[in-house]
Amino acid sequence: MIPLRNEADLQLLRKSGKILAKVMLGLQELIAPGVATKEIDAAAQRLTLKEGALCAFKGYKGYPASVCVSINEEIVHGIPGERVIRQGDILSLDLGVNYKGYFTDAAITIPIGKITPSNQKLIDVTKAALFEGIKQAKIGSHLSDISHSIQEYAEINGFSVVRQFVGHGIGKNLHEEPEIPNFGLPGAGPLLKSGMVLAIEPMINTGTWEAEFLNNGWTAVTKDRLPSAHFEHTLAITDKGPEILTL
Ligand code: MF3
Ligand code: CO
Repeated sequence: MIPLRNEADLQLLRKSGKILAKVMLGLQELIAPGVATKEIDAAAQRLTLKEGALCAFKGYKGYPASVCVSINEEIVHGIPGERVIRQGDILSLDLGVNYKGYFTDAAITIPIGKITPSNQKLIDVTKAALFEGIKQAKIGSHLSDISHSIQEYAEINGFSVVRQFVGHGIGKNLHEEPEIPNFGLPGAGPLLKSGMVLAIEPMINTGTWEAEFLNNGWTAVTKDRLPSAHFEHTLAITDKGPEILTL
């Protein structure tokens, strides 16, 4: 069963999402060529704690850092470390926040200085694909209407959709039911109801959709090593339509 949240729960989820959005902005301010990704990790921890919340990824299934930093061909779960950000990179930040036991999750991909037109298009299409999915997150839609609209938008624009990772329900845990693939036929899966809270997160590739893992056991990269982008928001389904919590 997909959990339904009441107004009291939604209030705390709103607060969690606001904290996440604020920390994300703080991280973006410090990102520049020459910065090591471990500095982003330290800032994620510092800024989140300052807001009275915890980084939800730290220690989750053994994940060793506070934030995921995935660069260029890295799709998701890049582990921050000594790597230095360079002009021309595209960099994905994925952050989960736990505020008083209420979880939100969001990701963005940002350009580092001047990037190629192809990478700019990849970023623009991935972000727009997320919003195509969010448009379907309304009472009366089927879950797979979200999946289908993301896939259709990405593929019409010449990109491919990662299959191995999916969006998810969220709220009192980082990952709850249901799984939300970024591909599939419309009109399938559960009907969406007011009070459901979902993390929708398209991961879109320039070339093949296929992924493989680096030796650290975490970081997923594209099989052809062409760039990948990732955007994610946590949202609540309400009587008035989707309410994005992580803006
Ligand atoms: N946004 C990703 C997800 O929902 C990030 C999880 S990273 C992990 O799966 F480290 F916590 F696993
Ligand atoms: Co997520």
